Amino acid sequence: MAYLQVDGAIKRYGATTALNGVSFAVGKGEFFTLLGPSGCGKTTLLRSIAGFSQLSEGRIDLDGVDLLSVPPHKRDIGMVFQDYAIFPHLTVAENIAFGLKARKVPASAIRERVTEALATVRLTALAERLPAALSGGQQQRIGIARAMVVKPRLLLMDEPLSNLDAKLRLDLRDEIRAIQRTIGIAAIYVTHDQEEALAISDRICVMDGGKVEQIGTPQQIYGQPATRFVASFVGTMNLLPPSAFGLPSSAGVAHWAVRPERLRLAEADAPPQSAFSLTGSVEHFTYLGREAHLTVSAQGQRLVAQIAAPPPDLSIEAGREIRLALDLRDLHGFDAEGRRVTVAPAT
Ligand SMILES: Nc1ncnc2c1ncn2[C@@H]1O[C@H](COP(=O)(O)OP(=O)(O)OP(=O)(O)O)[C@@H](O)[C@H]1O
Ligand SMILES: [Mg+2]
Repeated sequence: MAYLQVDGAIKRYGATTALNGVSFAVGKGEFFTLLGPSGCGKTTLLRSIAGFSQLSEGRIDLDGVDLLSVPPHKRDIGMVFQDYAIFPHLTVAENIAFGLKARKVPASAIRERVTEALATVRLTALAERLPAALSGGQQQRIGIARAMVVKPRLLLMDEPLSNLDAKLRLDLRDEIRAIQRTIGIAAIYVTHDQEEALAISDRICVMDGGKVEQIGTPQQIYGQPATRFVASFVGTMNLLPPSAFGLPSSAGVAHWAVRPERLRLAEADAPPQSAFSLTGSVEHFTYLGREAHLTVSAQGQRLVAQIAAPPPDLSIEAGREIRLALDLRDLHGFDAEGRRVTVAPAT
């Protein structure tokens, strides 16, 4: 049963169509991520749900009630922004208490809930500090605590980690997920970082040009991309013309695609019956310890291969001819419109 239901959302700004018929449903307690390139409509969608922006067409229901007829301040939705948007003149604790005061929650209850929220985001020791004396990660924890402390019905997060350095991003990403699970709140999370989306989400909605390309679990999005766009946007994908390398001909396939980690060095194994192999010349070889990367040029195509757990002495000089093997089950087919083609190639 859907908790949040978005149906046929359209948003026009003059000649620009920021949202072009977006529909999806989010379950209670679900962590749902909007993933897509810059300008695909992610923020527009969040703002429409929060009520900061009005849809041109479409419908949004929360817990069975038409949300668009509820004024923004009564929607009971928490929002975390990219730039923290915290008050510089208020202490950490005062920032977190702000929404509760505005809602006229009694002082004793405010103290209790702020104490609890401070502990959840691990800021108890910094409660009396001003935000300027905090790191970016700590400031964003205030943003998260402040959004959660009012116990909203839905938590919206718009690229909350994008101003943080790589290490902090990873830490806070895991924390956000843990907090969301603990309090059991439905969350919509926006990112254009595909790895972050895979790591944090129950389900991902991949968007492009104001439209939904695919909705699915991280495994479905990565393992069975519904469109060529999803295949290339999430992770790396080698795209091959249908005629290349004697790949099986299949009606309607305009492109074959294969993940770099699904290509193997053919010399290193005895290929089973189902394996295809392609010969090419090595352009680059990079040894990274737990994996090695190969760029191979073959029949005018450039392929990337990723070899997991390479032998410690593996070294391949540029210009060498090598053979890469792949299994047919690892081939994805896409038609001329970029839609996935289900193929059952003969082995
Ligand atoms: N107030 C506005 N007036 C006119 N056009 C707008 C307005 N807000 C957004 N747009 C346009 O709508 C489209 C979607 O914008 P949106 O901010 O939702 O993208 P986004 O997916 O959040 O991108 P980013 O990853 O860069 O934040 C863009 O083409 C943008 O230029
Ligand atoms: Mg945005």
